[in-house]
Amino acid sequence: MKKILVIGSGGREHAICEQFKKSSQEIKIFALPGNAGISEIAEIISEIKQNDHQKIIDFCLREKIDFVFIGPEQPLVDGLADDLEKNDIRAFGPSKKAAQLEGSKIFMKKIAVDNNVPTAIYETFTDAKSALDFAKKLGFPCVIKTDGLAAGKGVIIPQNLEECEVVIAEIFGGKFGSAGNKIIIEEFLDGFEASYFVITDGKNFIPLGFAHDHKRVGNNDVGPNTGGMGTYAPSPFVNDKMEKEIIEKIIKPTILGLEKASAPFKGILFAGLMIGSKGIKLLEFNARFGDPETQVILPRIKSDFVELIEAAIDGNLDKIQVKFDEKKKLVCVVMCAKGYPDSYEKGTEINGLEQAKKIPDVKILHAGTIKKDEKILANGGRVLNIIAESDSFASARSKAYEAISKIDWKEGFCRSDIAKKVEEK
Ligand SMILES: Nc1ncnc2c1ncn2[C@@H]1O[C@H](COP(=O)(O)OP(=O)(O)O)[C@@H](O)[C@H]1O
Ligand SMILES: [Mg+2]
Repeated sequence: MKKILVIGSGGREHAICEQFKKSSQEIKIFALPGNAGISEIAEIISEIKQNDHQKIIDFCLREKIDFVFIGPEQPLVDGLADDLEKNDIRAFGPSKKAAQLEGSKIFMKKIAVDNNVPTAIYETFTDAKSALDFAKKLGFPCVIKTDGLAAGKGVIIPQNLEECEVVIAEIFGGKFGSAGNKIIIEEFLDGFEASYFVITDGKNFIPLGFAHDHKRVGNNDVGPNTGGMGTYAPSPFVNDKMEKEIIEKIIKPTILGLEKASAPFKGILFAGLMIGSKGIKLLEFNARFGDPETQVILPRIKSDFVELIEAAIDGNLDKIQVKFDEKKKLVCVVMCAKGYPDSYEKGTEINGLEQAKKIPDVKILHAGTIKKDEKILANGGRVLNIIAESDSFASARSKAYEAISKIDWKEGFCRSDIAKKVEEK
């Protein structure tokens, strides 16, 4: 029996655990820290903190864990993959150095430019005056990004000079802590966004497909940015020719460039793309699966997921093939605690999940939930993911929202327009 440890506690990690469960191999999953949904299919490790690498290593050695799947960016940027490998524990996820692709926007831009990857024109700054001069030169709107991780809040798009002055002063005044010690300012690109995922072992890679997310908290894309309010896949807006261009101009040169920079990237390479009047441009890379994109990407994979991840860990992606369910359309709606992304209540009770699960082709994945006295309680901002699949987006959507109508959670909310744009596609 194979033993797998999954690090993380989101809907993404629940989706990853579910995908492992579909394997024909006999497996046992441990999750650290997991959530109420994950606890149904994995053993929860609650006594070890995610940033306590030594305790994680000790656990893996004691339990003879076959491999560790690292879900979120923070432990990757903290070097968990390196620490595991130093102890001969197989890990899926990039090294600390390669994870800088997400951990430092300046590193990412440099890799892009050094390898002729199309991306927005930019410069790097450590002081307000030269930053402002460059912003004026670019004109407005322009895009300001903190170099370091800022939980999805480190990108600001000022519409005019006054806003720009305020933003720059705030960042250098310490609003984002050390993540904002350096910033980049770049040209504003128009168009539509797409997320593209490939799995790579550092040399070889296999495309896993496109997804689109909904970042703003409110219907019709209004209100503040969030971690993601919903997704759908595949993309009806990207054709084979465009995918080929993305692979040739963005993915291949980046994988090769990182290898040359002595930072070979093993894991999930997630490209955030802008497709518009200036062609296809790379906005950013993430060094892991997206949440909630993963929830609509993984169910389309028909091949054995344990085998796929082990092939990536061992540098054998050239030896396997991945089959996809090409016809399947997926929609994921995220339910949040009222108040999110600002302050919200924890500990409110959620009922009706059993009835919701009965809707055919619907799956409920947990994010911020906890089980207490056999009750499911909200324990975070993004709390539940309702995923539905069908042969059309219209029917997947309607199944997802039908399931949501069965969920009894007064203190929760969701957007009602997820995937509405593709209903006719
Ligand atoms: N150059 C750009 N032009 C227009 N919009 C941008 C640009 N860069 C980023 N954005 C917008 O800001 C969002 C966040 O930027 P991104 O680089 O993905 O950083 P992060 O996800 O780390 O916050 C993007 O999803 C996109 O909507
Ligand atoms: Mg992004």
